[in-house]
Amino acid sequence: MLPENIPSDIDERVSFLKKCPLFSALKKEELSKIAAFLKEKKYKKNALVFKEGSFGDTLYLIKSGEVRIVKKVTEDETIVVLKRGNFFGEMALIEDKPRSAGVITTEKSILYLLTKAEFKYLLSENPSIAFSMMQTLSERIREADYSFIEKLRRTERLSTIGRTASTIIHDMKNPIAIVKMFLEYLENPDLQDEKRTEYVNIINGEVDRLLDMVSSLLEYSKGKKKIKKVETSLTKLIIQVTSLLQMELKGTGIEFKTDFKYKGNVWIDPIRMRRVFFNLTDNARHAMPKGGKLTVRTEEKGDKVRVDFIDTGIGMKKEVLGKIFEPFFTSKKSGTGLGLAITQQIVKEHGGSIKMRSKEGKGTTASIYLPLKKS
Ligand SMILES: Nc1ncnc2c1ncn2[C@@H]1O[C@H](COP(=O)(O)OP(=O)(O)OP(=O)(O)O)[C@@H](O)[C@H]1O
Ligand SMILES: [Mg+2]
Repeated sequence: MLPENIPSDIDERVSFLKKCPLFSALKKEELSKIAAFLKEKKYKKNALVFKEGSFGDTLYLIKSGEVRIVKKVTEDETIVVLKRGNFFGEMALIEDKPRSAGVITTEKSILYLLTKAEFKYLLSENPSIAFSMMQTLSERIREADYSFIEKLRRTERLSTIGRTASTIIHDMKNPIAIVKMFLEYLENPDLQDEKRTEYVNIINGEVDRLLDMVSSLLEYSKGKKKIKKVETSLTKLIIQVTSLLQMELKGTGIEFKTDFKYKGNVWIDPIRMRRVFFNLTDNARHAMPKGGKLTVRTEEKGDKVRVDFIDTGIGMKKEVLGKIFEPFFTSKKSGTGLGLAITQQIVKEHGGSIKMRSKEGKGTTASIYLPLKKS
């Protein structure tokens, strides 16, 4: 198998091949043989050399110009840009599969083409070509690997920001709704002064809560996400959180009860723990669209205190129960699915744990265990 005619520009071709990493190890006679095989093809700027998914059996060498290798992910993405002396299309010579990527010229280019049959023949005569090819390919894989990992890192950073943003949105929904509700109450011109003062205080408290969230977010983004434990009366904190809830429950058919068997203090971050209590009461309430009973009970259990949120709502199937702590798992139309994920994280930060028991059609009990000791 030898080419029929010797091309007139054979010397130019040989000196080009000498500079190609793929053939640089070969002797002049061998290069002349390859040079004689090459077919030359001219391309305009932005011309399609071949499409991803097409079949082909040609290896391309870039005589002049530049090409980019593109792969469709969500849209065309450039994997690598190749210049003079480089080659592409080699995969089609190795395996009989459609092209794994497409190639487009980025400027006016001249390419040399070598068919699979010709390449195989040259390879059988000069096994060193296989070694050079492997070297170039492994370099390319290393480069692609590096850029892939970089991209993953970037995506991971972005998704962390996304997750954090969703967390804030989840937690802000509640105080914003409360502020809105009390502002509406304030619009009533017949409102007694006493009530007016009470509502303004509530609004103030909720705005403080929003400000707390913003500053804890800023802390988080700066990387200091420390909880500040202080000695707190558990009963008082629960009453504080649920007094607003009781107002919201009016007319919903939901009865609210407390059963404080533990009356002592706990070492907790009250702002964070408030979010835990809010999230659990919020879930309980939404589980009882037709009314029911919500009981909050505290009890000392060895070196821990247990806080139960017991509802007589719709309950959950086993499959649902297995997923509720996963971020973004929700069965609600407007839920974020972050409530319990955040709750569990906060409880863990306190050295505690959370357990959920539920019976479909009967109700759910969320139990949190918090350590009583200071550490
Ligand atoms: N008390 C409960 N009774 C029945 N199902 C519950 C209860 N608590 C949680 N779930 C189930 O767990 C899912 C996840 O709860 P989670 O608080 O994490 O998110 P969410 O309540 O759906 O959304 P969001 O908290 O943003 O309102 C809920 O969608 C619901 O299916
Ligand atoms: Mg929730």
